[in-house]
Amino acid sequence: MTSSFGPVAPYYDDLMKFVPYRMWIGYYFLLLTQQDVHPEKILDVCCGTGTMCQMLNREGFKASGFDLSPGMIEEARRKAEAKKMDIRYEVMDAAEVDMGETYDSAYSFFDSLNNILDKDRLQLAFNRVAAHLRPGGSFIFDMNTAVAFEEQMFDQENLRSNAKLRYKWVGDWNANTRIITVNMRFWRGQEEFRETHQQRAYSEEEIYEMLDLAGFEDLRAYHSYTLNPPRPKSDRLHYTAVRKR
Ligand SMILES: C[S@@+](CC[C@H](N)C(=O)[O-])C[C@H]1O[C@@H](n2cnc3c(N)ncnc32)[C@H](O)[C@@H]1O
Repeated sequence: MTSSFGPVAPYYDDLMKFVPYRMWIGYYFLLLTQQDVHPEKILDVCCGTGTMCQMLNREGFKASGFDLSPGMIEEARRKAEAKKMDIRYEVMDAAEVDMGETYDSAYSFFDSLNNILDKDRLQLAFNRVAAHLRPGGSFIFDMNTAVAFEEQMFDQENLRSNAKLRYKWVGDWNANTRIITVNMRFWRGQEEFRETHQQRAYSEEEIYEMLDLAGFEDLRAYHSYTLNPPRPKSDRLHYTAVRKR
């Protein structure tokens, strides 16, 4: 079966166990401070299995999330229930999301927005985020750059026989479409499943233009996990924007 964030959902947290989510939360706080925004209600755009949402709620924020993948949201809900945490998670597409409430800040981490391959759909996603923010609200997100794809960041494998889930991922970068297609094979014992993930690289200019059109101002980009400007070799950027007042 070929899918995206489908069959892999129950294994996602295990695969991502070395991802420094706690550091990412600290960096999110630092970027919020740069914007002088002090949120209480927060929206996690493409929340996956809800790890960051949970951390924020534990820190006293009211964080909710949504994601396109029912499997990822099922995991997020299962984790919250197991920890007796009351967190709202919804299955929704970023280009069409309607949570029916507004927030002080929205964020999207782990190159989730690169998964939106159609520029018009990404514009709609930015519009929908803006519609969910109060005037002056903050939007912070990261994106892989073309450098990440050119350097084959997705070519990864763990074929150790004692691994819970063995995997081999191979990326195919198309410089013309600026889309990378990653063929992912997973094995659990003798059982095999496959996923295909695709991401598009957007230039800083494209992102700024779309954010502006969506009604954001104070647009900035950083070499990820620093307060430095992007470098030619940055493989990931963090963008910050404020909804026009
Ligand atoms: C690499 S995962 C990151 C999940 C989470 N942000 C994290 O840090 O663990 C990317 C997520 O983006 C979600 N996604 C992709 N396209 C989406 C869309 N159009 N709307 C909402 N979620 C989407 C996927 O389902 C997946 O859960």
